[in-house]
Amino acid sequence: MSVQENDNEVILVHPENSKTTTKILKYGATVFSWTLNGEEQLWLSRGAKMDGSKPVRGGIPLVFPVFGKNNSDEHLSKLPQHGLARNSTWEFLGQVSANPPVVQFGLGPEFANEELTKLWPFDYSLVLTVELGKEHLKTAIEVANTSRNETLKFNWLFHTYLKIPDIEETMVSNLSGSKLYDQMLQQSYVDRQPVVSFHEELDRIYQQVDSERIIQVVDKGHPIHTVQRHNLPDAVVWNPWVEKSKGMADFEPKDGFKEMVCVEPGYVHDFVVLQPGQTWNAHQVLSKADLQYQIV
Ligand code: BG6
Repeated sequence: MSVQENDNEVILVHPENSKTTTKILKYGATVFSWTLNGEEQLWLSRGAKMDGSKPVRGGIPLVFPVFGKNNSDEHLSKLPQHGLARNSTWEFLGQVSANPPVVQFGLGPEFANEELTKLWPFDYSLVLTVELGKEHLKTAIEVANTSRNETLKFNWLFHTYLKIPDIEETMVSNLSGSKLYDQMLQQSYVDRQPVVSFHEELDRIYQQVDSERIIQVVDKGHPIHTVQRHNLPDAVVWNPWVEKSKGMADFEPKDGFKEMVCVEPGYVHDFVVLQPGQTWNAHQVLSKADLQYQIV
């Protein structure tokens, strides 16, 4: 059986390689483990809450309908940071393919966190599709506006925590020349550095990055993660470093920031706006692919 379901999780095992697996928690439909031939690719905090008491610190939490904390929209401003999808238990919709194994999860106001739904009372339907390839993990989202008369406006983001051997030896490539909003400096500018490197807390929203740009995480000259995006023009790059890690109760071990970097494909520079009956699709594909420095 390449797909197993229990009360809290769904586990996929690749039929051609039993060491290639992924695990998804129904809470948040959070992918919290992805092993490629026995090697874990995602970072998961040892202090992550897996019991639905808090969004999972690690893996791929799903951010919807708002990225960060909104202060201006009448309804979105009432939601906590990063919205309600990562704080809701999703419905397991089942397996849709055997090789590669593909499963789906669904969320709508009828299943979502009740308290938060009261604060953001819109009609929508989300379907998350997770595909475990031999060499990749694809997560795809479809958002539908199921209302008869109201527009739906939202952000989407895959908050992907990637596992790395050493942050100080890590570079993130192919973002050079892109406009960004630096959340640390609270300033927008164009990144002129050839690669992103890490020496302190870094929290940047790269905006409207051409989808042809393949973002890579490079360790000592080797690509250890390759992130391809479809319909996800923005990419947040985040590492909390020493102080911010100390301040997060569920971030363990405290020096765990050395072994993680978040590369988060999303649509956050603006809202996606759907008219009644419209749908929107996007996906990310994670793999280890050849090094591709791209000319900008
Ligand atoms: C990132 C943001 O996407 O998520 C950071 O850019 C934020 O500013 C981080 O600190 C973690 O957020 P949270 O809500 O999971 O602690």
